[in-house]
Amino acid sequence: MTTAPPSAFSARKLLREAVRPVADRQAWNRLLQGMHPLWTLGQVRARIVKRVEESDDTFSLWLRVNRHWNGHWPGQHVALGVEIDGVQRQRVFSLSLADDAKRILRVTIRRQPGEGVTDWLHRHARAGQTVDLSQAGGQFLLPAPVPDRLLMIAGGSGITPIMAMLHDLAERGHGGDIILLQLCRSASQRLFADELTALQARLPGLKTVAHASAVSGRLAATSLPEQVRDLARRHTVLCGPAAFMADVEAVWADLGQSDRLQREHFSAPRPPTVPGLARRVVAVDSEQVFTQKNNLTLLEAAEGAGLAPKFGCRAGLCRTCLCKKHSGSVRNLLTGLVSTRPDEWVQLCVSVAETDLELSL
Ligand code: FES
Repeated sequence: MTTAPPSAFSARKLLREAVRPVADRQAWNRLLQGMHPLWTLGQVRARIVKRVEESDDTFSLWLRVNRHWNGHWPGQHVALGVEIDGVQRQRVFSLSLADDAKRILRVTIRRQPGEGVTDWLHRHARAGQTVDLSQAGGQFLLPAPVPDRLLMIAGGSGITPIMAMLHDLAERGHGGDIILLQLCRSASQRLFADELTALQARLPGLKTVAHASAVSGRLAATSLPEQVRDLARRHTVLCGPAAFMADVEAVWADLGQSDRLQREHFSAPRPPTVPGLARRVVAVDSEQVFTQKNNLTLLEAAEGAGLAPKFGCRAGLCRTCLCKKHSGSVRNLLTGLVSTRPDEWVQLCVSVAETDLELSL
């Protein structure tokens, strides 16, 4: 009996099977990490070199990254990954300082009780441990050339990307006029107070104004034009709590200054309340149907139905939750854009259904 020679197709399949163990990058990464925790095939990993408590609920991790780090632009963020109870979890944090030449980064983290990654890091992160990192990403970057007059508004941990920008401006000898308005609950909650004082010695045009809500009450965004008289001539960067940011955006829109306002959201805006809203969502891959109700994002609705879509930041930054939409319309809460065409990618964590949908879930 003779055996038929393998077809080109089955020969390719056989070859694929034969080289699979060699081509499995994750297996190689696990093997390399067994030899040295920072050795990988192209994946960024970092060792925690120092932990610094910045306030009672906020701390900084100083990280030394491996040679796969591609560098950053001040204002960008990274996704930091850790294994929690056997599950790989990640969350996005802005860099508050980075020296690419020395491969040293700093992320500043506010603990959010009940939120897996920040809570875990608060309890467990120590010098000597290693973590996964993404490359730096994000578009929260100062324009080039840097405007002569800047207004920087930072609420709480929203100061972190702004610190990276200020350090960079100091490094470059920026001589422009900068007003930093820093919102915090109390003086003890004000982050980087000493570091900002030191930066003022290097940035003679930097004026810092701290507003502690426990002393002075909540700052009304509508008071800002009164406080910053030359606001119309300033480029503004803004990062802070979502509600305050929405108020500032509304004021800047009223002044016709929206195009001079740059912002970074740490959390997704909440979906609007529409009484009685219920959209039918077909999860094609898992053959499930669920309803997106009022006040839920698509990610929350899918999780509520027992599905487990991938996610990272839950704020529209990392794109981990990207999902293909086969039909229907979806609104992105961050950009306001509506995806109506079939087979477009949507970010589940910042999107709501405008019509019934079919998703690749
Ligand atoms: S989870 Fe990061 S963009 Fe949606």
